Amino acid sequence: MNQPVSADILLVLRTETRDWHSQVEKLVPIFEAGFDIASYQRLLERFYGFYAAFEPAAGFEPDTVQSLQLRQMIPNCQERRKLPMLKDDLRWLGLGSRAVAQLPVCSMLPELSSAAALFGALYVTEGSTLGGQVICRQLSPSLHLSPGRGASFFNGYGVETGSRWKAFTSALCQFAAVSRGADLETVMVDSAIATFKSIALWLSPDQVTKEAPVDASIMA
Ligand code: HEM
Repeated sequence: MNQPVSADILLVLRTETRDWHSQVEKLVPIFEAGFDIASYQRLLERFYGFYAAFEPAAGFEPDTVQSLQLRQMIPNCQERRKLPMLKDDLRWLGLGSRAVAQLPVCSMLPELSSAAALFGALYVTEGSTLGGQVICRQLSPSLHLSPGRGASFFNGYGVETGSRWKAFTSALCQFAAVSRGADLETVMVDSAIATFKSIALWLSPDQVTKEAPVDASIMA
């Protein structure tokens, strides 16, 4: 027999990932003293590396097989892409297109092999636009950034944030209500946790240090 799907899958996702949200919050230290424009650029570069891997895998690249599935799953797919916003911000901060294209890309993506797993991962990336609004408001007084002027990624969908989140969560709940797959809730929650873990690992200073290019001058 199929496992019953929780009436409130969103509540389950929020509760089960709460500790991971706290972990990633610590890795986005925008509210800490000493967080300057260089720290901000490093943070955006890491988010760029994550989304450069995640978006093609999830189906955000138009005209791919995965994009067909994604289009059927959630509304406004193309407007939800975060890579263009990250590129805009990095360019505004002075990074050329070639430098952006050479940024390290995340190699520790969660498994996105089913619609349930994809929904779990998208819960994390779409949910992050809610916190992004709070972060964006902080960037204006502290670093003098604003949407279109270095803070487009965190501004996300701007005034549309609430309605896009509602549209996404309705699609997720609808999927959970009609799907008959066994362990649907478990797959979604595991995938959301795996996505948080992947982001946490990718943003962690240890990971960044491991990838730092060797400075030839200190080898001489
Ligand atoms: C300093 C960093 C962050 C802050 C201050 C923050 C803050 C918040 C806030 C205030 C909300 C709730 C908004 C509301 O209920 O209206 C929220 C929701 C959420 N955030 Fe964050 N966030 C941060 C980083 C992130 C990151 C990096 C991710 C993942 C990539 C993330 C994922 C989520 C998710 C999935 C939700 C939706 C929770 C739900 O309602 O089910 N957050 N965040």
